[in-house]
Amino acid sequence: MARKMLVIDDDSIVLSSCLRIFEAEHFDVVTTTSPEEGLSLVLDTYFDVILCDWMMPGLDGMEVITRLDETSPGSAVVMISGYPSIERTTEAMKRGAMDYVAKPFTPDEISKAVNEAIQRKEAEELEIIEKFGRLTKTGQISLPSIDEKILQTLSAAIDERRRMEARPSLEALSEPERLQEITLAVLDKYDKDTNNLIPILQAIHSYAGYLSYETIGMIARELDMSEHDIFGTASFYTQFRFQKPGKHRISGCAGTACFVSGGGVILEAIKSKLSIMPGETTEDGVFSLERVACLGCCALAPVVTIDDEVYGKMRPAKLSRTIDKIYRSEPKG
Ligand code: FES
Repeated sequence: MARKMLVIDDDSIVLSSCLRIFEAEHFDVVTTTSPEEGLSLVLDTYFDVILCDWMMPGLDGMEVITRLDETSPGSAVVMISGYPSIERTTEAMKRGAMDYVAKPFTPDEISKAVNEAIQRKEAEELEIIEKFGRLTKTGQISLPSIDEKILQTLSAAIDERRRMEARPSLEALSEPERLQEITLAVLDKYDKDTNNLIPILQAIHSYAGYLSYETIGMIARELDMSEHDIFGTASFYTQFRFQKPGKHRISGCAGTACFVSGGGVILEAIKSKLSIMPGETTEDGVFSLERVACLGCCALAPVVTIDDEVYGKMRPAKLSRTIDKIYRSEPKG
């Protein structure tokens, strides 16, 4: 399969040169003169490599690199600039760029930089794969689901402890108390062993529904690890949410069939209607949004699910009406 490349530069000559050079190398090249459009394209498409100019109207290249590192961490980013300097090169690398190429560049120079950047990025990913397991093309890892029996044992252990100590049931606790109780029970079950970090995170997530920052802090204290390391590990996995899920869970499909049928527009419509990003929950706790890979009903693309209901052939107006309808059915006050 052809590698995908995104070129963000306000100079049309650079765009056409990159198109010519890299299409000849069998890359699938997408170009844009707008940094904002570039950032929005990476939300819907995985690019193996991204070339980004340093000086552009609107967002500057350093800001774009920082945002790309957050939204498309698996892409190899190469910065290009007409005004290179050691300080800028160092800054670009610190923010996640793999290389820095000065304009005007020759086809050989840019081609060498791009191909070496991809190789280095792939080597980095391999290291991560060895450390954490199988990495998917989205840069995140899928975990097998946790054994239902483990959850049942945990649940029984928590209930029993609370009954013996004559304490109220989990349901009667405040959210922080509930999370603390679950976290301590899971840590006990796994002997507070750092080698069990992934099963610990999975069990807490399955039980509590999410990993709160307080939960991560508690795990860090109990396992004598840094919060940064625990969050870094958890954030590699698609399954983990870090905010309490809303009462209704909306899943916007970002699979190929949905994407080509306007799935990106639908996701944007959900984001702007509810003012949340994927992985977030509305302030009133009614909706949470997640961006998922194929939901398995591509013939209905673009597809959105809300809780267990599938909504096919989705359009922004239909989506807005559906969300309004759910809001109207919510208890007032
Ligand atoms: S790609 Fe969306 S349902 Fe298959």
